[in-house]
Amino acid sequence: MSSPPRVLFVTSEIAPWQKTGGLGDISAALPGALAQAGVDVRILVPAYPALTSAFPEAGVIAAIPPPGGRFPAGRLLAASTDAEVPLLLLDCPEYFARPGGPYQSPHRRDWPDNALRFGLLSRVAALLASDASPLSWRPDILHCNDWQSGLAPAYLHYLHPGAAAATVMTIHNLAFQGLFPAQRLADLGLPEEAFVFDGVEFHGQLSFLKAGLQFADRITTVSRTYAQEIQQAELGFGLDGLLRHRSADLTGILNGVEASWNPATDPLLAQRYDARHLADKAANRQALRRELGLEETAAWPLMAIVSRLTHQKGVDLVLAVAEELLAGPPGAQLAVLGTGEREFEAGFRMLAARHPGKVAAVIGFDERLAHRFEAGADIFLMPSRFEPCGLNQMYSLRYGTPPVVRATGGLADTVVDCTAQTLAAGSANGFAFGPADAASLLAAVRRAGDAWHRSKLWRRLQKNGMAADFSWDKAAADYADIYRTMHSAEA
Ligand code: ADP
Ligand code: GLC
Repeated sequence: MSSPPRVLFVTSEIAPWQKTGGLGDISAALPGALAQAGVDVRILVPAYPALTSAFPEAGVIAAIPPPGGRFPAGRLLAASTDAEVPLLLLDCPEYFARPGGPYQSPHRRDWPDNALRFGLLSRVAALLASDASPLSWRPDILHCNDWQSGLAPAYLHYLHPGAAAATVMTIHNLAFQGLFPAQRLADLGLPEEAFVFDGVEFHGQLSFLKAGLQFADRITTVSRTYAQEIQQAELGFGLDGLLRHRSADLTGILNGVEASWNPATDPLLAQRYDARHLADKAANRQALRRELGLEETAAWPLMAIVSRLTHQKGVDLVLAVAEELLAGPPGAQLAVLGTGEREFEAGFRMLAARHPGKVAAVIGFDERLAHRFEAGADIFLMPSRFEPCGLNQMYSLRYGTPPVVRATGGLADTVVDCTAQTLAAGSANGFAFGPADAASLLAAVRRAGDAWHRSKLWRRLQKNGMAADFSWDKAAADYADIYRTMHSAEA
């Protein structure tokens, strides 16, 4: 048997320390599952303050001399996660020792030097995959995630043409492309010849994501449906032509759900429960209503949203139908947990102010509450305009909280609309609608509300959802297959 592939997994987020969304969750879970599947995997992530304080024992294992362009020198620190995956922290205080999130200042403005910050992450990833690496451990495969590490395959192509490592580029969200002015090219230490149509140029700008899609040996995204959708103009964000061109190298692999999202063992819940003890879920609804100051009533279901409050997530559609949704028939309560565009934050705050006891809006990022929302709600709303995978609908299914979703991307691949046929087949687990408009959302929410009033039917939906297998093992096996094919092609 050949040796297990060595994989360097490059990411700009890792939960629980630094997370703005699903990428943080995936970076925490997938490498551990890959290690279980026999892959020799290490994670490269910037040494943000949250990480350096979580791993005070992390020691310096290599110095990185200034790698060209305007980049300063850096260092690599070594630590290890609970899942026993080695972490390589890219320490460059000038770039990463900042307050705020990974991409934005505490005032929620993008850092003006993000091209350099994530250019350095990409540059160092390429270096570690090349013969010039200061480490003796060399990856066979460099696995890049989203635009923040998208430039790495381009660096390998232009600066380390002889490097043996093969590259995988995973798209978690095609809408974020890492677009910067062409003038950044020299700062990033890329040659002028890179600024061409089949290089890093995209409509006159420099695109990190396009660079990754252009130069990676394989491309993956996080659901099968999304892998198809991004090859069409509607959801291709200008990159559909390139993705069609590369479709033979493009695979959709559905994300898994971490074992910690399990209502039977979740320490954050008021009351734990499983599919055989669904009556115990009610204690969580009561606790959530009390915590949020919502009226306790058996008249309406409690609907919940946990989301980035952005156009992608279709939260404007919820705001558009909120009054009708609340008034009914059949009527509902609504609890929202999220942060995002100020307009939507204000919209939900105002809605809550108009309907005390019936609507609660928590504007903030709160992991504990996210768990309590999933357990306490009756129905979960996720009307995304596009959704590469989506984790919250899978959490909802696991927590016996049937979701109402728009049938797109990973939502289409995980939620089975409740119809006479799907009920008979035992697959119905939620409600899905097609067109991204308020009327279609309202119709689906009404169907869900009606079904909630029919308790036997509702139990079946809950149980079908809870029976689904979203473990990481399957996704890890699919990634490991891709790595092995590439690895044996290299050897
Ligand atoms: P995306 O990555 O596009 O935001 P996902 O559904 O893949 O969407 O992942 C979102 C992740 O972020 C989930 O783990 C979800 O629970 C979490 N999340 C989003 N908003 C909040 C919030 N306000 N508080 C706590 N967790 C949140
Ligand atoms: C992105 C997508 C989301 C996906 C996550 C992890 O943030 O918006 O749908 O679940 O990445 O892959």
